[in-house]
Amino acid sequence: MKTSKYSKVLRKHLSKLLSCRLCTVALLFICIYGAFLIYSYQYGTYHSVRDLELMNAPYKNPGNAIDIRISDLMSRMTLQEKIGQMALVEKNSIESIHDIPRYGIGALLSGGGGKPADNSLHGWQKMVKTFMESSRQSRLQIPILYGIDAIHGHANIPGATVFPHFIGLGASDSEDLVERIAQATAHEILASGIRWSFSPTLDMPSDIRWGRTYETFSDDPEIVGILGAAYLAGLQQESASGISVLGTLKHYVGVGSMQWGSSSNPLYHIDQGTTEPNEAMLRSQYLPPFEKVIESGALSIMVGLNSWGDTKVSASKYLITDVLKNELGFKGFVVSDWYGVYEIHDDTYEATVQALNAGVDLIMLPYDYKTFIRDVEKAVENGDVSEERINDAVERILYSKFRLGLFEDMGPVLENETLFGSETHRALAREAVARSLVLLKNSGVLPIPSGTRHIRVAGSSADNVGRQAGAWTVEWQGADGNFLPGATSILKGIEERVPEGTLLEYEKDGNFITKSIADIGIAIVGEAPYAEGWGDNPYPSLSPEDLEVISKLKANSSQIVVVIVSGRPLIITDQVASWDALIAAWLPGSEGAGVSSALFGDTPFTGSLPLPWPRTIDQLPFGIDGTGADGTAPLFPRYYGL
Ligand code: BGC
Ligand code: BGC
Repeated sequence: MKTSKYSKVLRKHLSKLLSCRLCTVALLFICIYGAFLIYSYQYGTYHSVRDLELMNAPYKNPGNAIDIRISDLMSRMTLQEKIGQMALVEKNSIESIHDIPRYGIGALLSGGGGKPADNSLHGWQKMVKTFMESSRQSRLQIPILYGIDAIHGHANIPGATVFPHFIGLGASDSEDLVERIAQATAHEILASGIRWSFSPTLDMPSDIRWGRTYETFSDDPEIVGILGAAYLAGLQQESASGISVLGTLKHYVGVGSMQWGSSSNPLYHIDQGTTEPNEAMLRSQYLPPFEKVIESGALSIMVGLNSWGDTKVSASKYLITDVLKNELGFKGFVVSDWYGVYEIHDDTYEATVQALNAGVDLIMLPYDYKTFIRDVEKAVENGDVSEERINDAVERILYSKFRLGLFEDMGPVLENETLFGSETHRALAREAVARSLVLLKNSGVLPIPSGTRHIRVAGSSADNVGRQAGAWTVEWQGADGNFLPGATSILKGIEERVPEGTLLEYEKDGNFITKSIADIGIAIVGEAPYAEGWGDNPYPSLSPEDLEVISKLKANSSQIVVVIVSGRPLIITDQVASWDALIAAWLPGSEGAGVSSALFGDTPFTGSLPLPWPRTIDQLPFGIDGTGADGTAPLFPRYYGL
């Protein structure tokens, strides 16, 4: 048989070899060296000649100035490697982990709900580390940037501190508070090994029917600029090793002023819609917040999914290159939003060429990176995109990587593990909740006096942390219910604080068994979570169930306090007269006890409306002077608060 013939020959040669002492020693040496190579490769101590050469490369030396590091690295990169740096891929779309070094992918992201199988802090650390290490296997060992939406704390991970959504922070109007929150958020992000957040949002809503109203600070560009700068300062803390977490201003530009019914997404109404290309509005309203936060050190800006007239913003050379980069002097990188580039044109090649020439540097694909890489290679070959444009984009991206100290990054900041969801951070979140509340009406029932005998609580949002937290909490759309470890519902906060001797009863639907009349009824009602265009709502108001609970509570309580937990003002014009007190609590996050501390007078009400509260739907959109589209005054004007 063939095999036995071969093995006979092999055995003969082997015994000949072993009979020679020198050959045995050599063979042994080869085996040991091979084993050593396999071991050291496995455990990362293997250094090839290439590695040793790179070790001394100027771009690897943190002692060198960043421009020297960039030009050295650029001089070593092939066109393919440069194109790879321009790809931002959703992490579940990576076909094989080896594709990261193979294509030299520049950046990865977790979209909303883009969690690892083990959705714990350690699970995130492990996932990010694996991706980071795989990027270091590339020829030039350029680390990836890993991005997430930490838009109200690092709420992607169960157990994180969930701060109020931006609309509540806008109501607090406190730079200092916002900066401390961003810093705490950065600490929790760093604990997970991530260095990049798609925050702060500088959008300004003129129409509360928009499903992203709660992600914004205010409709006043001055407040947005000031709080945006404070947030960025908190996130991008500077140390000897670089900035801690890279922030991203979004969404450039005119987002929040899209017209109702103009969405390019057939399932939405206003999100991803059209902003009227009004140069005066651009200059006086939309640009100033960006200008302010760029001045305070922004290095990354995300373009919106909206259109500027007929043009998708991601295809607008005027807005991105002429205005943002040339006029405002923005030196960082411009990143496109989720699939935004491919909404420019049905043909991926055409879409990519337009976006790159408009000035987009990093493309949030987010799925198909191979097509992107092929398209850009072809575009450069055809002369449709110049090599200078590619070099400019890559230099901008690398600049942030160097500013972050990413080439020297040692992984998650383990000392921060104890800060993740810590009591210190939760105390800060409680403070933020209390300061974000806006007291819109009070006939004298608040604060609740200590001698109160009997309090009733009811309503869909009373014992529901998911409603308090809203979207971008573990899941993209958030989740209804008590699913967050360590969180406190508003009801729980009331239970903890209620004075001794006060009878406290809770029935979600308001059907109380006892027949007596309570001194105070607290109705905690509002919206279920939603994100982006799924929250576009033709008539934001209280649900029939909420209204029914309020009337039941009214029937069995002497005085009634209504707490609205929502991402935006709701139309309540017909009901408000019959309530004794009204509080806008926005989306307070994981610390419901911040609400009870104000209800019982431990903390004063200091919040004010960050945007006008409409009387009717016909007032939308509001003008910049705060009057309705029909020329009438709102129910409560911007800055109002008792
Ligand atoms: C949103 C962005 C977000 C991105 C990544 C997009 O759909 O518009 O605000 O940063 O997704 O999750
Ligand atoms: C992602 C979000 C993203 C959205 C855009 C979702 O699947 O999780 O991050 O913003 O898609 O439509």
